[in-house]
Amino acid sequence: AARIAAAEAGSLPLIVAHRGASKDAPENTLAAFRLGFEQGADAIEGDFWLSADGVIVAMHDRSLARTTATPSGEGDGREVTALTWEELAHFDVGSWDEWAARGYAGEPIPTLAQVLELVAAQGEGHRAIVEIKDGPRIVPALLETLAASGLAPEQVAIIAFDAEVIAALTKARSEGGANWPAYWLSSFEEGKGGALEPSAAQVVAEARRVGADGVDLWAKALVLDPELAPAVRAAGLELHVWTVDDEALARQLVALGVDSITTNIPAALRASLAPG
Ligand code: G3P
Ligand code: CA
Repeated sequence: AARIAAAEAGSLPLIVAHRGASKDAPENTLAAFRLGFEQGADAIEGDFWLSADGVIVAMHDRSLARTTATPSGEGDGREVTALTWEELAHFDVGSWDEWAARGYAGEPIPTLAQVLELVAAQGEGHRAIVEIKDGPRIVPALLETLAASGLAPEQVAIIAFDAEVIAALTKARSEGGANWPAYWLSSFEEGKGGALEPSAAQVVAEARRVGADGVDLWAKALVLDPELAPAVRAAGLELHVWTVDDEALARQLVALGVDSITTNIPAALRASLAPG
């Protein structure tokens, strides 16, 4: 499969702007994605759902409540998957929290096609990490949107916590579909006895079961469970991590050889990791 990671040994991991430059602009908007690149990110990460009429749109939560709120009122509590694109296009996702005061009022919900167009306009070496929050039902529309984007398979990766989304993508690939890299996302919890769950062996087994090209892990797990990074590497899988705003942790992850680091502070992280 194609890979989005820096190919040369010893080079820095890719810096990925989490939900766009979401510390400085409202998450999952074109403004945040554009700013992510302006802040020096190699890639932007965004979260995506399928609308009621089959358009893929950027939003983190299933409910519109949090990011359509205004300082004086509550947001719309409906679910993004229950509304059509025409309905979704009217929402303002730039007025919640402090964003209206920072000049983002009226920022709309973008479609995946618009986000990919923005990435393509940045030129070669710029990438999109598309997190699927919806289920495997999104895959046909996703493959269609990716194909129409004109982006190369080295410029886009698909990530999902739902392993069945990855399984559906790799199945389509095995049936002659395009070669978009697909990474399985995993969070972790402390099991009985204090060990992290899933274990390194379980992470590798699940990634293999669904034919993933790599894994995208909660970053601290790599420090808490020293078996994780070597196990992922030994299995020949790419190793990506989220979400790292701590410079000391980022340096530890570079030493472990991660392929990318997803962060809310792309400029500061790149500056602190720069050699010399
Ligand atoms: O990069 C993966 C990370 O974005 C997963 O967490 O909740 O921010 O989508 P979340
Ligand atoms: Ca995400």
